[in-house]
Amino acid sequence: MENIHPVFDRIIQKKDKEKILNQTSKVIWLTGLSGSGKTTLGASLEQKLFNQGFLTQVLDGDNIRSGINKNLNFTEEDRLENIRRIAEVNKLFLNCGIITINCFISPTKEIRDMAKEIIGEQNYIEIFVNAPISVCEKRDVKGLYKKARNGEIKNFTGIDSPFDVPEYDLEIRTDLYSVDEATDILYDFVIEKIRLK
Ligand code: ADX
Repeated sequence: MENIHPVFDRIIQKKDKEKILNQTSKVIWLTGLSGSGKTTLGASLEQKLFNQGFLTQVLDGDNIRSGINKNLNFTEEDRLENIRRIAEVNKLFLNCGIITINCFISPTKEIRDMAKEIIGEQNYIEIFVNAPISVCEKRDVKGLYKKARNGEIKNFTGIDSPFDVPEYDLEIRTDLYSVDEATDILYDFVIEKIRLK
C-alpha cells in the first residue's frame, strides 16, 4: 500500500518550506458561538502576524461554506463533514509551511477531536473565543439569532443545537476585552509556537 503514492517521496518537505518562510506552521483553531468574535479576532491576528512577516491563511464559515462546502447544511452530520474537509484543507496548508487561522463554531467535542486527530495534536492550537450567549445574541451581527428565536432557522448553535465547552489551550473572553486587547493576548500566546526554532 505504501508504494502506491511514490510522488510523496519526491515533493519538497514541510521543514524545507518552513525554512523558506522562516516560520513554524501551526493550525490556530478558534472555536465559539456565532457572534463570539472568531472572524474579527482571526482577521485581526492575521494582520498583526502579517506585519511581523508571517504567512497565514484565514479560513472561516463564510468563505468555506460558500465554496468547497456549499453542499453542506447545519445538521450534526453535515457539521462533522464540514469540519472534516476543513481539517484536511488545513493539513495541506500545514505541509506548505503556512499558519492557518480557523474561525468555525465547531460546536462539539466530537467535531473538535476529529479535527485535532486529522491535523495532529502537535500542530493544533485550540482557542475558545468566549462570550456569553446573551452577549452574542445582543450583538446579532447577521440577524441570525432573531431568526433562530422566531423559528425561521432550525438547529441554530446555542439555541436548538448544542455547543460543548471546549478543552482549550487558551480562552479569550471577548465580552471583557476590546478587539485590540484580545488580539494582543492571542498574538502573545501563539508567537513563540510559530517562530522557527
Ligand atoms: S459549524 O458548526 O459547522 O462549525 P460554521 O462555523 O461552519 O459552523 O458556520 C457557522 C456560521 O454559519 C455562523 O456564524 C452563521 O453565520 C451561519 N449559520 C447559518 N445557520 C446556522 C446554524 N443553524 N447554526 C449555526 N450557524 C449558522
